Amino acid sequence: MRFLSIAGTLLCATSALAGSSLHKHKVFNKARPVVEKREASQAFKSPELQKRASRFLTEKTKEFAVNGTGIPEVPFDVGESYAGLLPISDDPDETRKLFFWFFPTTNPDPQDEIVIWLNGGPGCSSLSGFITENGPFTWEAGTLAPVQNPYSWTNLTNMIWIEQPIGVGYTQGTPNITDEVELATEFRGFWKSFFDTFELHNWKTYVTGESYAGYYVPYIADGFIQQNDTEYFNLAGISINDPIIGDDTVQQQVVVLPYVEYWNNLMYLNETFLDQIRKRNEECNYTSYWDTYFKFPPPSGPFPVPPDPYETDDLTCSQFDTVYSAALEVNPCFNIYHITETCPHPFSQLGIVNSGDYSPPNAKIYFNRTDVQEALHAVVGTNWLQCSDINVFGNGNGSSNAQDASVGPANNGVLQRVIEYTNNTIIGSGDLDFLLSTNGTLLAIQNMTWNGAQGLQEYPSKRLYAPYHPEYNGGALAGSGVQGSWSHERGLTFYTAQLAGHELPGYTPGVAFRMLEILLGKVDDFSSTEGFTTQKGNFTGTGIIYKRESESSIEVDSLI
Ligand SMILES: *[C@@H]1O[C@H](CO)[C@@H](O)[C@H](O)[C@H]1NC(C)=O
Ligand SMILES: *[C@@H]1O[C@H](CO)[C@@H](O)[C@H](O)[C@H]1NC(C)=O
Ligand SMILES: *[C@@H]1O[C@H](CO)[C@@H](O)[C@H](O)[C@H]1NC(C)=O
Ligand SMILES: *[C@@H]1O[C@H](CO)[C@@H](O)[C@H](O)[C@H]1NC(C)=O
Ligand SMILES: *[C@@H]1O[C@H](CO)[C@@H](O)[C@H](O)[C@H]1NC(C)=O
Ligand SMILES: *[C@@H]1O[C@H](CO)[C@@H](O)[C@H](O)[C@H]1NC(C)=O
Ligand SMILES: *[C@@H]1O[C@H](CO)[C@@H](O)[C@H](O)[C@H]1NC(C)=O
Ligand SMILES: *[C@@H]1O[C@H](CO)[C@@H](O)[C@H](O)[C@H]1NC(C)=O
Ligand SMILES: *[C@@H]1O[C@H](CO)[C@@H](O)[C@H](O)[C@H]1NC(C)=O
Ligand SMILES: *[C@@H]1O[C@H](CO)[C@@H](O)[C@H](O)[C@H]1NC(C)=O
Ligand SMILES: *[C@@H]1O[C@H](CO)[C@@H](O)[C@H](O)[C@H]1NC(C)=O
Ligand SMILES: *[C@@H]1O[C@H](CO)[C@@H](O)[C@H](O)[C@H]1NC(C)=O
Repeated sequence: MRFLSIAGTLLCATSALAGSSLHKHKVFNKARPVVEKREASQAFKSPELQKRASRFLTEKTKEFAVNGTGIPEVPFDVGESYAGLLPISDDPDETRKLFFWFFPTTNPDPQDEIVIWLNGGPGCSSLSGFITENGPFTWEAGTLAPVQNPYSWTNLTNMIWIEQPIGVGYTQGTPNITDEVELATEFRGFWKSFFDTFELHNWKTYVTGESYAGYYVPYIADGFIQQNDTEYFNLAGISINDPIIGDDTVQQQVVVLPYVEYWNNLMYLNETFLDQIRKRNEECNYTSYWDTYFKFPPPSGPFPVPPDPYETDDLTCSQFDTVYSAALEVNPCFNIYHITETCPHPFSQLGIVNSGDYSPPNAKIYFNRTDVQEALHAVVGTNWLQCSDINVFGNGNGSSNAQDASVGPANNGVLQRVIEYTNNTIIGSGDLDFLLSTNGTLLAIQNMTWNGAQGLQEYPSKRLYAPYHPEYNGGALAGSGVQGSWSHERGLTFYTAQLAGHELPGYTPGVAFRMLEILLGKVDDFSSTEGFTTQKGNFTGTGIIYKRESESSIEVDSLI
C-alpha cells in the first residue's frame, strides 16, 4: 500500500467541509437575500427525542451508557447511546479492545438491523466520520460549535461507529495483524463481543465506509460470509464511497489527466503545464491505457497492471504528484479531498493530518480532551489522533496473504463474493474528490467480474435525485433535487454526487441519507422522487426562501 507516499496524504476525513454559508450570496448586490425558515406545519416540527423504555439498557450494557446531555460542547440531548471498549476475542485474558459508539435508532419503526460505519486510512478513526459525515451531531471544520445533524443515519436505523483495527484512536493493545484477512478476524471477535453484550443475535448487518474502508468493508463482509453463522454475522449489504478497491496506479494515476481536463476551470493550471502533462501522459502509457480500458462495456479479460511509478526512483510518471504540486502553486489551499476549496484553511476539531493543515497554537483536538474521553468511557489519557502514527498492520503491509490484496478487493474475488452473496452492494463517489476520483473507481470496477459478466455495460448516467426536505439547520445543510447520476447492474449500484468531495456524506448529506434508505430496502432506487421515508410528505423547497428586499435596505458595508 502506497498511500503514505502519495504526497504524504492519508485516505481519511481531514478536509474542511465548507459550510454552505449563505452570506456568500451577498456579493450579488442587487438584492440582499434573506433567509427564512419555511413555515413548518405541525407535522414537521423537529420532534423532541423520544424517551422510550430502552430494550438495550441492561446490567451488561449500563457501563457503556452515555449521558446524552453530558457530551462536552454539545448543547442538546443526543439521545440514547452506548460507547466504550470491547475485546476482540472471548478469551478471558484478552486485553486488546476496539472502541465503539452505538446509537439505537430514533426511527419509531425500528428493525432488527444495524449499520456499521468505518473510516479508512489505514489507521484513521471512524469518529471522524461520526463528527463530520453522518453522526447525530456534526462539528465541521471552520465552525464554532457542534450542531444537530438532520441527516444523521440514526434517523433511519441503528448505527455503530467503530474504531478499528487495534492501533487506531481509543483502541487498546499493540497491532500485530499483517493483512486484511487477519483484520477481518479481529473485527469478528469484537463483533461477537458486541452482539453478546447488547443481545443483538441474528440482526441483519450492513457494513459501510469510505476511502481505505474500500478494503476494510469487503474483507470484513467476506469474512462474515465465510463464517456461515447468521446468529452473529448476518450480512445484508455493503456500501462504500470514494473507495480504494483496485490497483493504485489505475485509480490514482491513469485518471489524473482526464480529471484535470474536466475540472481545469477550477484548478486553473496553465497551458504550458497542461501541455507538459499531456505529453508525459502518453510517454507513461496512461493515455493508451485509458483509451483501451475505460470502456462500457469493458474489453473482456483481465486488465494489465500498469507499472507503479513509486517503484522507481524518479516520480516522472506520478501524474498525481506532478499535478498536486502544480495545483498547490496556483491554490496553496488546494484540497485533494475537495477540489473547490480555496484559502484559508479552516480549523478542524480533528487536528492536523496533512502537514499543510492549519492549527492555531494551543488548539485542542476534540477526542483528545479528557472530558470527552470520560464521557465516552474511553481510557482517559489516550493520545487520540485522527489517523494513527503507527502501522496498524503491525510488521506487515496489509497485502501479505494468499489472496493478493495489492490488486484490491475488486480484482481478487473478495468484492465479487460480497456482491453475489448480497446482491446489495452500493459504491458511491464524490465528483470533487481528486484523491480517489469517480472515473478511477469505475476503471477498477471495469476489471471486476460478478454475477456472470465483467464490468458495467453502460456508463452510469441515470439522474440521481435527493428529496427536498422541510428542516432548516444553518450548521448542517443538504442539497436537494438532481445531485448526480447512478446505475445498477447485477446486484451492484454505482452512484455519484457531483458536489461532494471525498467525505461524501459530509458534503452531500441528503444523497448519503437516500443511499442508506436504498441500502436498507426502504426506497427502490436513486431515481425515486419520493420524500425521505422518515418525513411523510412531499416538499418542493429546501426550507430556504430567498426574498428580495427593497434596494434601500441594502447596506453597502455588507457587500463583503
Ligand atoms: C431526523 O430526525 C430529526 C429529529 O427527530 C428531524 O428533525 C429531522 O427532520 C429528521 N431528518 C430526516 C432526514 O428524516
Ligand atoms: C448528564 O450530564 C448533565 C450535564 O453535565 C448532568 O447535569 C446530569 O446530571 C448528567 N446525568 C446523569 C444521569 O449523570
Ligand atoms: C497477535 O498477538 C496475540 C496475543 O499475543 C496472539 O494470540 C496472536 O496469535 C498474534 N497474531 C499474529 C497474527 O501474530
Ligand atoms: C461454510 O460453509 C462452506 C460451504 O458449506 C464451507 O466450505 C466452509 O468451510 C464453512 N465455513 C465455516 C467457517 O464453517
Ligand atoms: C469521466 O468519464 C466520463 C465518460 O467517459 C466523461 O464524460 C467525464 O468527462 C469523465 N470525468 C472526468 C472528471 O474525468
Ligand atoms: C510504454 O509502452 C511502451 C510500448 O509498450 C514501452 O516500450 C514503454 O517502456 C512503456 N513506458 C513506460 C513508462 O512504461
Ligand atoms: C484485473 O483483474 C485480474 C483478476 O481478474 C487481476 O489479475 C489483474 O491484476 C487486475 N488488473 C488490474 C489492473 O487491477
Ligand atoms: C505553469 O505552471 C507550472 C507548474 O505549476 C509552473 O512551474 C510554471 O511556472 C507556470 N508558468 C507560468 C507562466 O506561470
Ligand atoms: C493529546 O493529549 C495528550 C494529553 O492527554 C497530550 O500529551 C498530547 O499532546 C495531545 N495530542 C495532541 C495532538 O494534541
Ligand atoms: C508485503 O509483504 C509481503 C510479505 O510480507 C511481500 O511479499 C510484499 O512484497 C510486500 N508488499 C509491498 C508492497 O511491500
Ligand atoms: C443476484 O442477482 C443475480 C442476477 O444479477 C441472480 O442471478 C442471482 O441469483 C442473485 N443472487 C442472490 C443471492 O439473490
Ligand atoms: C412528490 O412530488 C413529485 C413531483 O411533483 C411527484 O413526482 C411525486 O410522486 C410526489 N410524491 C409523493 C409521495 O406524493
